[in-house]
Amino acid sequence: MSERRILVTSALPYANGPIHLGHLVEYIQTDIWVRFQRLRGNRCIYVCADDTHGTAIMIRARKESRTEEEVIAQSQQEHERDFADFQIRFDNYGSTHSDENRQLCGQIWESIQSAGLVKTKDVEQLYDVAEQTFLADRFVRGTCPQCGSPDQPGDNCSQCGITYSPIDLVDPVSTLSGSTPEVRTAEHLFIELEQLHPFLREWTQNGQHLQAEVANYLKGHFLGSTEDPDGIKTLRDWDISRPAPYFGFEIPDSPGNFWYVWFDAPIGYIASTQQWCDRNGESLDDWWRSEECEIHHFIGKDITYFHTLFWPGMLKTAGLQLPEKVHIHGFLTVDGEKMSKSKGTFIKAETYFRHLDPSALRYFYASKLGPKLDDIDLNLDEFVSKVNSDLVNKVVNLASRSAKFIKDVGLSPVYPPDGGLFERAAQAGDSIAEAYESCDYNRAMRLIMALADEANPFVEQAEPWNLKKDPEKSGELQDVCTVAINLFRQLVIYLAPVLPDLVAKTNELLGDSIDHWDQSKTPLLGTSIAKFKHMMKRIDQKDIDKMVDETRAEQTEELSDSDSQDGQEQFHDGPEALAAEPLAEECTIEDFMKVDLRVARVIEAEHVPEARKLLKLKLSLGGDETRTVFAGIKAAYEPEKLVGRLVVMVANLKPRQMKFGLSEGMVCASGTGGAEVFLLGLDDGAVPGQRVH
Ligand code: MSP
Ligand code: ZN
Repeated sequence: MSERRILVTSALPYANGPIHLGHLVEYIQTDIWVRFQRLRGNRCIYVCADDTHGTAIMIRARKESRTEEEVIAQSQQEHERDFADFQIRFDNYGSTHSDENRQLCGQIWESIQSAGLVKTKDVEQLYDVAEQTFLADRFVRGTCPQCGSPDQPGDNCSQCGITYSPIDLVDPVSTLSGSTPEVRTAEHLFIELEQLHPFLREWTQNGQHLQAEVANYLKGHFLGSTEDPDGIKTLRDWDISRPAPYFGFEIPDSPGNFWYVWFDAPIGYIASTQQWCDRNGESLDDWWRSEECEIHHFIGKDITYFHTLFWPGMLKTAGLQLPEKVHIHGFLTVDGEKMSKSKGTFIKAETYFRHLDPSALRYFYASKLGPKLDDIDLNLDEFVSKVNSDLVNKVVNLASRSAKFIKDVGLSPVYPPDGGLFERAAQAGDSIAEAYESCDYNRAMRLIMALADEANPFVEQAEPWNLKKDPEKSGELQDVCTVAINLFRQLVIYLAPVLPDLVAKTNELLGDSIDHWDQSKTPLLGTSIAKFKHMMKRIDQKDIDKMVDETRAEQTEELSDSDSQDGQEQFHDGPEALAAEPLAEECTIEDFMKVDLRVARVIEAEHVPEARKLLKLKLSLGGDETRTVFAGIKAAYEPEKLVGRLVVMVANLKPRQMKFGLSEGMVCASGTGGAEVFLLGLDDGAVPGQRVH
């Protein structure tokens, strides 16, 4: 088969935030595919960029008293550093805020104009007078027009679920300034997508470009079915302009209006390619206007609509090459749940990198990624055991148990008998390649580990460490190790798209240069072997714990940062709590002083195995004074995390005999019970034993 010319992209990450482990699912998935294509001898370039425009960046720049350019320059530097740390290697990493992008946006806009797809309509939108900006949905909160729940988001009610426009909210509040926004009318530009309906139906439904579940989703929700006369739907006009102030590109023939960020963002794919072409003396037309070029986009399922309807529509209208495939993946969950800052699972790439090996994550994601849109779970226990048992015990172990015995003699000159192991592994190459090609990395990893499972018993039975003891068996030893090293090398070639770092170390060990898939078909013979250096460390649970703790700490820090920067933080406390438990009858100061509240330190905390809700706490009031208290906080707190912290206790409560022991007081907490329990804390400086008044 002749060499293919392939252009690959990942979605452009927002400049507004750091790269986290969720993002990395995508960039690692794409990087693996690109490395695989190159290993197969195809010509493949991988471009990406930061997605810089929009209200969020503008607001952040204002808050930090910096220019938008300064904010995005810093993000870009951090993003590029993170990607490099995870061996995600772009041929060009651009920015949507570039001259190339501005120019391309202009050109594409012109073709859309001349195709007669643009129209104008008045749009009513909320305007924040204090901040002088129109408010995107997420900057508005207010009372639901349907059910009356207070403090609901700008697009849909979290209580009754209806969707609405922010102008429908009762008592809307701008979350930027806390002021009441007013309704203003502005003229927006729209692209009439419906005109492209027949084309989009054919392109999305012809089975060539999209995963089947994606094609069905689009048909069901947006395109409708031609077989059912009532089922044909109309594509909504797409609002692609925003009035000033907006951080973006001003529309040349519509002064005061800017292209909405989702118009210029995908054009950033082309702009980034342009920069690569300019640097390498290539023509952009060979990549974006040539049938010979295959374009592959990798994206997450949340941005399906943009990449499967708007974007093909824009490309088609501009006469540009359409994507051969849009590969869509699911979302990352950590320990089965959405990534959460307070649980310490909203893990930044940077934080992971401080504690753990990027190769481990690359392998783990590969072992989880399939060709469908299922979410993938990073279960941290599974992560540790999988990486240790597959990569360290099965793969690297093959080399570490054999390389050292042939350091002086090198590999045998003729490939020794091995019961057909090498040949079988060579034949498995085609199925593994098919699995990579179709993004079924999970299958590829299983096939590779099955080969490792066959190779290891060979070494175990041959026992090179025993052959080593008998000088007469040195020939046999060399042969056994030659087989082991070659089986190891085959695995490394198959894993090369996933583990570039292991390839580099293997090359160093074998004086080899792994750069083509077909090297797996021919054994390496008669060459010398370098001293074995460690290739991959076992993951230690402690490093995981450190990473999670650090993530939690970052979260606390971020919260206090944003408090101080906002100056006037917005509070949205509803009336429900007070309504659920109305204020008690009036009391005198004497009444209150009867209750002796004291600062206490938790010095021991343990589960009470027979009790569903209780933790047993040992509290110190300073010196030798301690109290044992049973507290109904089991669902909300882990005992280990409580030891050392200060709490407030009712110290003169009459002791109470419980089934599990004597309870000598009570710790103070708010909340409705279960996991919703919040212990009272104390500011720094408080001392156990002090009275609380
Ligand atoms: N800026 C847009 C994309 C514009 S493309 C022309 C955007 N940026 S993003 O930073 O929010 O996301 C970048 C990519 O990372 C998207 O494809 C998104 O689906 C993916 N992911 C972000 N969080 C993710 C998870 N938690 N899990 C898996 N992928 C996720 O969208
Ligand atoms: Zn509601």
